Amino acid sequence: MKGSRCLTIATALLTLVALKAYIEWTAGQDERFPTPQEGEWQTSSFTPAQTTAEDAVAIALLHFNASLHQMRQSIPKSKAYWNEKQHQIFRALDAGWSNASMHECEGSGGAERLSRIRDFGSYSQLYRNFILYDGCRNFPLLINQPGKCAHSKNRTFLLLAIKSLPGNFAARQAVRDTWGHEGEPGGLPVRTVFLLGTAGGQYGPNLQGMVEYESQTFQDILMWDFEDTFFNLTLKDFLFLNWTLEHCQDVRFVLKGDDDVFINTPKILDYLSSLDARKPVYMGQVMANASPFRVRKSKYYVPESYYVGPYPAYAGGGGYIFSGMLTQWLHIISQYIPFYPIDDVYTGLCFQALGIRPEAHSGFQTFDIAEKDRDNPCVHRELLLVHQRSPHQTLHLWKQIRDPKLQC
Ligand SMILES: *[C@@H]1O[C@H](CO)[C@@H](O)[C@H](O)[C@H]1NC(C)=O
Ligand SMILES: *[C@@H]1O[C@H](CO)[C@@H](O)[C@H](O)[C@H]1NC(C)=O
Ligand SMILES: *[C@@H]1O[C@H](CO)[C@@H](O)[C@H](O)[C@H]1NC(C)=O
Ligand SMILES: *[C@@H]1O[C@H](CO)[C@@H](O)[C@H](O)[C@H]1NC(C)=O
Ligand SMILES: *[C@@H]1O[C@H](CO)[C@@H](O)[C@H](O)[C@H]1NC(C)=O
Repeated sequence: MKGSRCLTIATALLTLVALKAYIEWTAGQDERFPTPQEGEWQTSSFTPAQTTAEDAVAIALLHFNASLHQMRQSIPKSKAYWNEKQHQIFRALDAGWSNASMHECEGSGGAERLSRIRDFGSYSQLYRNFILYDGCRNFPLLINQPGKCAHSKNRTFLLLAIKSLPGNFAARQAVRDTWGHEGEPGGLPVRTVFLLGTAGGQYGPNLQGMVEYESQTFQDILMWDFEDTFFNLTLKDFLFLNWTLEHCQDVRFVLKGDDDVFINTPKILDYLSSLDARKPVYMGQVMANASPFRVRKSKYYVPESYYVGPYPAYAGGGGYIFSGMLTQWLHIISQYIPFYPIDDVYTGLCFQALGIRPEAHSGFQTFDIAEKDRDNPCVHRELLLVHQRSPHQTLHLWKQIRDPKLQC
């Protein structure tokens, strides 16, 4: 059994080498690693039919050895909780990958582990909850759209994966009625899903019935059985990768965004279809040289006893795009990176592990544009994505930028 698995790995690797359909992309440094040509991606190279999930992991870790190693160098060795946890995984990887990715979902049973954080008592309740459950990655899907990407004969070109909250009905409707409208413009299938956890809070109203009704009406809701809070967004990202692999594996591009952004979908389609299909994409508004925010009152506050060190460059979470062919790499590599409370930073860490740097595009404006331009359709017509617009503004702007009589 063991021997045949080695053989599979060897065959897969040989296929990779022999294919010569390799392309290379630089990660900015001198290390390069090959990526199978897009067309062969999931059939012949990375996941041959006979390759088990385990073999795929072994192959991936071999592939990304260099970038993982670089990442290891870049994370300070420190007593901070996350840093220690990540270095523990790196050490476990030295001994073999099979035991390195085990995530323990202990809940409040993990109290001993937490005594390592000296000032844990001063952490906010949300932070404490995040840390208590940061090893929990298995949550059932309550509402699924298994046929989402199967409706068209052509492979899904763009999947709009929109982070929403159960109560944001109006925002979702505005998206459906405007830039998130599903269709096949120019033969390029566009699909939309809204990513939801459950409506939380001890005293929150029960929205389940309404969300289920909405799902039956529009068939675009994905809901997992976890509490939809800010610190659970990384979990949402992870579960979405799993969903994409299960139900939309062929997708060319994924746009991950918030439900309060305005997206110029036609312009994005134009832009994406002009790209070299073999080149992996991770693109948005790039946060470079960022580091943890130490202001206690901020939503983005990160205690020093939790993480020290810089952040890798990452694309702002308001909206960014990545190639569908990266989904499997991301899903595998994220097993070896502990969850981080800030979801776009976490995504940046996963891309760093793959050796892929985010590419900046000035059409992404996640911190909004100059105040005087915020109602200006001519300005919006030239953008790809802007944060933030109300449902009302979204409908109005969409109508204006689509008007053939618009003079700019
Ligand atoms: C992975 O990279 C490290 C550091 O560059 C190197 O020492 C090690 O031999 C590599 N392992 C494999 C399997 O290539
Ligand atoms: C990995 O886990 C298995 C089962 O839990 C155990 O038998 C084995 O010794 C572990 N290997 C290492 C290198 O820790
Ligand atoms: C698939 O896309 C091509 C153009 O790339 C288009 O001609 C064709 O009509 C599309 N197929 C379907 C079923 O829409
Ligand atoms: C995330 O969801 C889980 C499952 O519902 C919950 O136990 C946990 O408290 C949530 N975490 C945060 C930080 O809200
Ligand atoms: C997705 O998650 C389910 C449940 O944890 C798991 O059984 C399945 O293997 C995962 N799929 C992939 C592609 O990893």
